Amino acid sequence: MGYKFATKAIHAGQHADPTTGAVMTPIYQTSTYQQAAPGDHKGYEYSRGTNPTRKALEDCLAALENGTYGLAFSSGMAATETVLKLLKPGDEVITGDDLYGGSYRIFTNVFEHYGIKFHFVNTSDPERIAERISSATRLIWVETPTNPTLKLADIEAIGKVAKEAGVLFAVDNTFASPYLQNPLDLGADIVMHSVTKYIGGHSDVVMGALVVNDRELYDRLFFYYNACGGTPGPQDSFLVLRGIKTLHLRMRAHCENGRKVAEYLKNHPRVEKIYWPGFEDHPGHNIAKKQMRDFGGMVSIVLRGASLEDTFKVAASFKVFTLAESLGGVESLINHPATMTHGSIPREVREKVGVVDNLIRISVGVEDIEDLLADLEQALG
Ligand SMILES: Cc1ncc(COP(=O)(O)O)c(C=O)c1O
Repeated sequence: MGYKFATKAIHAGQHADPTTGAVMTPIYQTSTYQQAAPGDHKGYEYSRGTNPTRKALEDCLAALENGTYGLAFSSGMAATETVLKLLKPGDEVITGDDLYGGSYRIFTNVFEHYGIKFHFVNTSDPERIAERISSATRLIWVETPTNPTLKLADIEAIGKVAKEAGVLFAVDNTFASPYLQNPLDLGADIVMHSVTKYIGGHSDVVMGALVVNDRELYDRLFFYYNACGGTPGPQDSFLVLRGIKTLHLRMRAHCENGRKVAEYLKNHPRVEKIYWPGFEDHPGHNIAKKQMRDFGGMVSIVLRGASLEDTFKVAASFKVFTLAESLGGVESLINHPATMTHGSIPREVREKVGVVDNLIRISVGVEDIEDLLADLEQALG
């Protein structure tokens, strides 16, 4: 479909219901489908593998990422796991040294046990990836911007490295959302999302997704999707389809509020360090400008001279922001990565990349900016 983003967000994959004319895709709350004779069906056999509500969502997700095939999963981690199942013992993966804690955990505590080796490098420098490639490398897995220190990786440059080496290249696009960044256009083979975040947008669904262009790769991923069964139900698929209809509007508001929060915090006396890719002195600013349409609604700060106890006190003193895991919903959230989202990463590993005890991650929501700034002022004060 050659339409622009907002049109795709509202219409892609969705058609008026042929039997009733219902404009919104129905919730096909069914596990199975009638067959006229064995094998004679309408394209749907059993809902672990295919369901019409989920199919509409998958087609919409594929369209938003300028891809051909979408697959929805019951969580972002189920999507990640499915990519890793393409690998065999002895295979190697090159990935970032600053990743969502759950991704680090599934790499080291699950798939290393199956004989897969992970190399954690600074993915802001494509050279660090190139020098790690060996005959055993099968996958490059990159998060950009990273969670939680918002480091940028140059997708186009890494895509070239991957192509030259004949290695699969996957991008976790959760922090950017398809509104801000489309990795397949820049040379990635697989784009992954925690749909739970910006795509769902209302903190009421846990879901993941993969989008690809290559038919053979899609078939291999679909095999594990269906064989292992980490697929979401129709209710959740409907809720996400509904959420996506305002993705472009929400993302514009997240970016606008994110900019104002970042600018407010930059010179705040309680803030020692701030991570937000929109600042010209952010090391990934030029890459962000090149590959993203705006800088997003995620901001992380290090509190000046704060102990763990001081940081906890600040984190618990917000009135509009909510202290909670997750991000990307319409409501503003505060997170303490060291003990919450990144608690599964050993201290010495996380501190090396800046996930220190006095780091706070802020998911800037779409409330009135005056209320958000006033809440920051009182909490930091
Ligand atoms: C960047 C990133 N990737 C993957 C995930 C995992 O997604 P889910 O929580 O939907 O399983 C998260 C969740 O926080 C995330 O922030």
